[in-house]
Amino acid sequence: MIGVCSGRPVSITGLGCYVPKRVLTNDELAQRVDTSDEWIQTRTGIKERRIAAPEEATSDLSIPAAKAALADAALTGAEIDLVIVATITADMPFPSTAAILANQLGAESAAAYDLLAGCTGFVYALTQGYGAIAAGLARRVLVVGADTLSRVVDWSDRSTCVLFGDGAGAVVLEEVEAGGFHAFELGADGAGEMELFMPAGGSRRPSSAETVAAGEHYVKMNGREVYKFATRVLSSSAQAVLEASGRSIADIDLYVPHQANLRIIEHAAKKLGIEKERVFVNVDRYGNTSSASIPLALCEARQEGRLKDGTLVLMTGMGAGLTWGSSVITWSGGRDNEH
Ligand code: ACO
Repeated sequence: MIGVCSGRPVSITGLGCYVPKRVLTNDELAQRVDTSDEWIQTRTGIKERRIAAPEEATSDLSIPAAKAALADAALTGAEIDLVIVATITADMPFPSTAAILANQLGAESAAAYDLLAGCTGFVYALTQGYGAIAAGLARRVLVVGADTLSRVVDWSDRSTCVLFGDGAGAVVLEEVEAGGFHAFELGADGAGEMELFMPAGGSRRPSSAETVAAGEHYVKMNGREVYKFATRVLSSSAQAVLEASGRSIADIDLYVPHQANLRIIEHAAKKLGIEKERVFVNVDRYGNTSSASIPLALCEARQEGRLKDGTLVLMTGMGAGLTWGSSVITWSGGRDNEH
């Protein structure tokens, strides 16, 4: 799916994020599984990640991020029409984490639902939020990307447990005077379902003592295939959305790719022809936080003064499904200083 945003401008007017306090370093991981700080840094660029406290579920990470985004947009929860939480680690299979969050925020007149598109969830959710506003169905949308991957990772599997971390990011979308989203490109290839998946806990293989004993409630990943897929779609999706928006990579001020692995990001940046000064990277400190990765990166980019009114931003996500998604936005209508 590819589309140009031709209606009234819609932009991100509020931004917030939250990460749990607990830092888990590579050296600590090396005490649990047969790995090393050197191996993890060389293959992934990750130095440490955050891990949710036992009592923190995905909605608990989302609440502070969402409150910060609402405050940033100078709105209250009651003024929100729609809450979308992109996640693959909802508090529970149902009800939605979005409904739980909306209640916590006092968003009494909001519709609320979760969206599952793996690590691409945030970009998918942005597209839906944009669409709801552009179609006149909503005026103010809260989009959250939040995941607690630490709960679904097998901590004895060195090939996956070193990659992921927990976190949440949130944005408010509203109509603005100028700027905002220019285009979206989204895709999915279900033929890759088994490359990155959780075998049990759904209708095909309900949880049972047998599935738990077999560890089928954990993330399974074919790392090499996901690597090939990720490097391919990061650049192809970015190129497609740039073309749709009538921009070139030379126009982009800030490229915010999904933070899965530094090698994947560097490969995509090289293929796109964008130098590292214009690429945002924080995977070293958070690992792959799935749906939270892009909004968390946006938050830190703004704190560092790299995201200001008028900044042209390219975002690309990719993940389980397999899915991918990109958007180009002129940052406008929000605050642009560190706060
Ligand atoms: N420490 C030490 N050795 C390890 C570790 C580890 N943590 N993990 C795997 N190895 C070993 C393997 O067992 C293998 O050993 P062998 O040759 O004796 O069999 C060796 O290292 C090489 O394994 P590869 O899988 O070939 O290593 P590769 O260079 O491909 O790196 C990695 C693995 C980092 C997982 C890489 O494939 C990758 O980044 N894939 C993409 C993963 C990803 O980003 N997933 C999420 C994207 S989508 C989303 O965000 C949901």
